[in-house]
Formats: sequence, structure tokens, C-alpha cells
Amino acid sequence: MAPIRIVGTGSYVPPNVLTNDEIAKRVDTSDEWIMKRTGIRERRIADPEQAVSDLAKEASMKALEAANMAPEELDMIILATITPDTSCPAAANWLQAKLGATNAVSYDLTAACSGFIFGLSNAEQYLKNGQYDNALVVASEVISRTVNWGDRGSCILWGDASGAAIVKKSDTGAEILSTHIHSDGSAGENLLLPGGGSATTPICQESLEKGLHALRMVDANKTFKVAVKRFAEACEEAAASNGFSVSDVDLIIPHQANLRIINALAGRLKVPTEKVFVNIEKYGNSSAATVPLALDQAVRSGQIQPGDNIILAAFGGGLTWASAFVRWE
Ligand code: UT7
Repeated sequence: MAPIRIVGTGSYVPPNVLTNDEIAKRVDTSDEWIMKRTGIRERRIADPEQAVSDLAKEASMKALEAANMAPEELDMIILATITPDTSCPAAANWLQAKLGATNAVSYDLTAACSGFIFGLSNAEQYLKNGQYDNALVVASEVISRTVNWGDRGSCILWGDASGAAIVKKSDTGAEILSTHIHSDGSAGENLLLPGGGSATTPICQESLEKGLHALRMVDANKTFKVAVKRFAEACEEAAASNGFSVSDVDLIIPHQANLRIINALAGRLKVPTEKVFVNIEKYGNSSAATVPLALDQAVRSGQIQPGDNIILAAFGGGLTWASAFVRWE
């Protein structure tokens, strides 16, 4: 069987920029505090008429173009998101229709910030077992619509974005050597988006007053420490399962949650910060979309070179954590 490879990547961010200074006009915070505690300077916000499938379409079209494929050739669409256009149908189905990917089965995947890597892992299994030959794995979030813009402890973090990869059985492209995915449901309360779920629907005055439609973080400080630990474990697992040590890896592309988490990860792994991709200053945390957005930017900027060994790693609500080990060719 031909190896399973990433044969094209794409990404999209909406043009509207929201700076820290603008947030500081709404809540008691400052550019200095946000930069120091998170490394975020600005983030993108989707236009009111843009839903998750619209952002996903832009990223997917670029990935298809890079892969030299037409939408009709797609066998599968896996869309990772926690902010779908609608609870039913899946955002992936809206995307399938917008792309004209008439031959693809499509579904959403909910694994919060780890969603893209969970999606890669899903695609890898279907391709390995021979059921399909290719998949579009795309992560897209319009998380700005779920943010409590009055909560200075969390509203500073989030941004909207989308990123995509075409995964295919192929003799050329970047080989996916492994994926690993993990969950811990007992800590699910720590990063919660109740709105739209059966525990909160139908939305009523009481649930609105309680803010159940908005994203909430409990013990963000504790989550910070768990994130560093799980991130490091994910990177070590990815390297070890391919006979490498993390220091042999050319580039780590981590989920962009907080620059301090990323720096702590580099310190824990004893990896120089130049080997860890960072773009959080411009985009903030776009949940599942940060990893494919960063991957596409690293590919298109030439930061990834043929022969490089790359680890994609994520940690997120759920809790979830995941890794992929990819050899670029
Ligand atoms: O993507 C999924 C995973 N991501 C996460 O789970 C997020 C992980 N956590 C974090 O990134 C950080 O915990 C935050 C950025 C959310 C918060 O940073 P922190 O360094 O943990 O701050 P803190 O919550 O310990 O708050 C320190 C102080 C508090 O004041 P007191 O109690 O010391 O007087 C807060 O009230 O900073 C205050 N504070 C703020 N001050 C100015 C909290 N938010 C703000 C703010 N501006 N925006």
C-alpha cells in the first residue's frame, strides 16, 4: 500500500483584526498585560455573515489547489470544530455542498483544540483500512461568537481561523508516520461550551442569564499546568514511537494557546525555541484551527524543508491531547 501523506495544505483567516487595545476599551485590561501573560497582540474576527463552513471553504480550496485536486475527487471530509454552523446538519455537510464535493462523505469531529490532529488520525485509519483513498481534514472555528466579551480572563485569548490538509495514499508528499490521540473526560468542566448541547437546549431566559451559551474556563491556571505536561507527553510519545528523541525533530508545531505554555513546553523538552513554531501574537487561540493554520504558514514560508521531521501537538478542552509525526518530502 502507498504511504499516507499530506499532499496539500491551506489556511484562511478573516480580514477583520481585533487588537488588545480595542479589547481594553471594553474590559479592564491592557495590551501590556495580555502580551506579557499570553503573547497575543491581536486576533481575527469573522464577519457577521461568515460561518465556520465559509472559513473552512477558503482554507480547503487552497489545500485542494496545492494538492492539484478537484473537490469532486474527495472521498471524505472531516471537519474539526466546536463552533459548527448548526448542531444539525454537521458543518462538514454545509462545507461539502459549498465545495461541490459531491462524492465525499462528510462529518464533524469534536475534540476542541486537538480536533485537527484527531481528524488526521481518523483519516489515517480509513485510508489504512482501504475504505477510502483520500480525505480533506479541515479545522475551522468562529469562536468569537461564543466568547463572553465581558470576561477579561478569557475573552483576550480567542480568534477565528481555519486550516486544512489533503491526506492521500500517495508516493509523494509528507508522510504521516504516526498519530496518537487521548482524552480525559473527568476534567471536562475546565473548558466548557454548554450552549447548543442537550443540557442547555432549548435556550431560555434563565440559561441566557447564567451565560450558558458562552465559553467558560474554570481553573485556567490549573489547565495551564496540565497543558504543559500533556503537550510534553504528546511530543515524547510521537518521537519515541518512531525511534527518535524529541531533540532530533526539526520543527514542533504546537497548538497556540498561550506563549507561556509554548515556552514552558520547549523548556521541559529541552528544545530551542527556534524549533517551535509560533504565530500566536497575530491570531490568538483559534482552537482546532491553530495547528493547521500554523502548518500551512510553516509550509508556505519555507520554514519546513524536504527531509524535515515534524511533530504536530495539541492540547484542549475535553480534555483532549494528541500528536502526529510527519516526515516532509
Ligand atoms: O486552548 C486550550 C487550553 N488553553 C487554556 O486552557 C488556557 C490556559 N490558561 C492560560 O492561558 C492562563 O491561565 C490565562 C491567560 C487564562 C490567565 O493567565 P494567568 O497568568 O494564569 O492569570 P491568572 O488567572 O492567575 O490571573 C492573575 C491576575 C488576577 O488578579 P489577582 O487575583 O492577582 O488580583 C486576575 O484577576 O490577573 C488578573 N487578570 C487580568 N488582569 C488584566 C485576569 N485576566 C486579566 C486581564 N487583564 N485580561
